[in-house]
Amino acid sequence: MDVVKGKAGLGGVNKKNLGEHKFWATQPVPQLGEGPPLDDGYIEPSRPREAVRQEPYPLPKDFEWSMLDIDDPQQIKEVYDLLSLNYVEDDDASFRFQYSSEFLEWALKPPGYHKEWHVGVRVSSNKKLVAFISGVPMTLRVRGNTFSVSEINYLCVHKKLRSKRLAPVLIKEVTRQVHLKGTFQAIYTAGVVIPTPVSVCRYYHRLLNIPKLVDIKFCFVPRNMTLARMIRINKVSSNYTTVGLREMEERDALQVANLFTRFMKRFDMSPIFNLAEIKHQFLSGIGRGNIGDGGLGRRDGQVTWTYVVEDPGTNRITDFFSFYSLPSTVIGNTKNPVLEAAYLFYYASETAFEKGAEESGLLKKRFESVIGDALIVANEANFDVFNALTLMDNVPILQDLKFGVGDGILNFYLYNWRTAPLAGMNSEGGVSPGKGVGVVML
Ligand SMILES: CC(C)(COP(=O)(O)OP(=O)(O)OC[C@H]1O[C@@H](n2cnc3c(N)ncnc32)[C@H](O)[C@@H]1OP(=O)(O)O)[C@@H](O)C(=O)NCCC(=O)NCCS
Repeated sequence: MDVVKGKAGLGGVNKKNLGEHKFWATQPVPQLGEGPPLDDGYIEPSRPREAVRQEPYPLPKDFEWSMLDIDDPQQIKEVYDLLSLNYVEDDDASFRFQYSSEFLEWALKPPGYHKEWHVGVRVSSNKKLVAFISGVPMTLRVRGNTFSVSEINYLCVHKKLRSKRLAPVLIKEVTRQVHLKGTFQAIYTAGVVIPTPVSVCRYYHRLLNIPKLVDIKFCFVPRNMTLARMIRINKVSSNYTTVGLREMEERDALQVANLFTRFMKRFDMSPIFNLAEIKHQFLSGIGRGNIGDGGLGRRDGQVTWTYVVEDPGTNRITDFFSFYSLPSTVIGNTKNPVLEAAYLFYYASETAFEKGAEESGLLKKRFESVIGDALIVANEANFDVFNALTLMDNVPILQDLKFGVGDGILNFYLYNWRTAPLAGMNSEGGVSPGKGVGVVML
């Protein structure tokens, strides 16, 4: 039932025995079975630029490195083509992520991005793009430490070039490029288990368009249930429950930034966004033209939806939520070739700062209202399913908002940084599930 199964590696799948990770055993990451560290900190020290390897790592013959220029529509299209045919699939090869060009442009060009961190591999003879890996800069707080990291994503090797140890070369080369810019830590996620996850989250799915989801076998009508009943149970209301809900605008950025900064301190790990980054994350992906131009409830090329709740009395922004569009190709289905999936992104609420709000259930109620409204917005924009992970404050509200448990798992990793496990799908060291992870990776 899970579109992101491909990001999974639950149980035995992809899990190797200790010592079998020939590449990862050489990297500054905690090794499997090492146990939690006594103190948080780096594994190997940062180096001056001169001490960083100056030449690119060698590639097999017939291949060459190529820095992708994401400002060039032609080159984004090349990344899009590579990923849409070769990126993450679920275990049954039924669904494959289909990041749009607009999405990639948004994800790869946050403020301060480095074009050197968009690393491609081409066939020397015909220049065809056959592999890619990217990093974007981010300021990350992990417990009491704040540092610059590269957020690594979109590692992809063409299907015909798999199992040739090309992935380690890509990882080493992007790491070198990151080092050359004076950054020595990274964050990344994967479905596979490699040394060593700092947290593990599980995917949940809120089914919206049941007939289509059943048709494409994203889910099934359980025994002792009928399709009609399943549709009725999952029907999304059209009445918003939060008063003062509206789309976020430029003029809200400062208030949203302020709320976000305070709210995110509640998690053990979170990004630190400045005003420019807030605008990028929440406003720059809204697409072109008017709502409706890109289909029901959407602008043309819309990637993100961000809504704020403005208190009608004080005009203060009290809450916000955002989600992004990440469709999947339904492999081999001509009638319904695309699964329209929305993914819960960041959100925050002033209610979190009211005394006793968490213990009394007030905060949970507020999130049910706010995220419940996100479901309405997504439903009206014709999404088929709304996905969320067991991170941030999601865990307590998933059941009441009728999310079902998926079979996808997402492992979180830190490169060159040690810290004790962070609470994701499970609680850790007395921290409730979800509360360890305040980072949403795209
Ligand atoms: C992920 C992918 C690039 C790996 O390439 P590959 O040809 O299968 O594997 P290679 O032979 O080149 O390299 C194997 C090494 O890469 C590591 N590796 C594989 N997938 C990885 C991942 N997602 N992140 C980090 N390392 C990974 C393996 O653990 C192995 O190292 P080890 O021996 O130390 O364990 C490729 O399978 C692919 O493009 N898959 C579809 C897209 C995808 O899943 N991308 C990753 C999203 S997180």
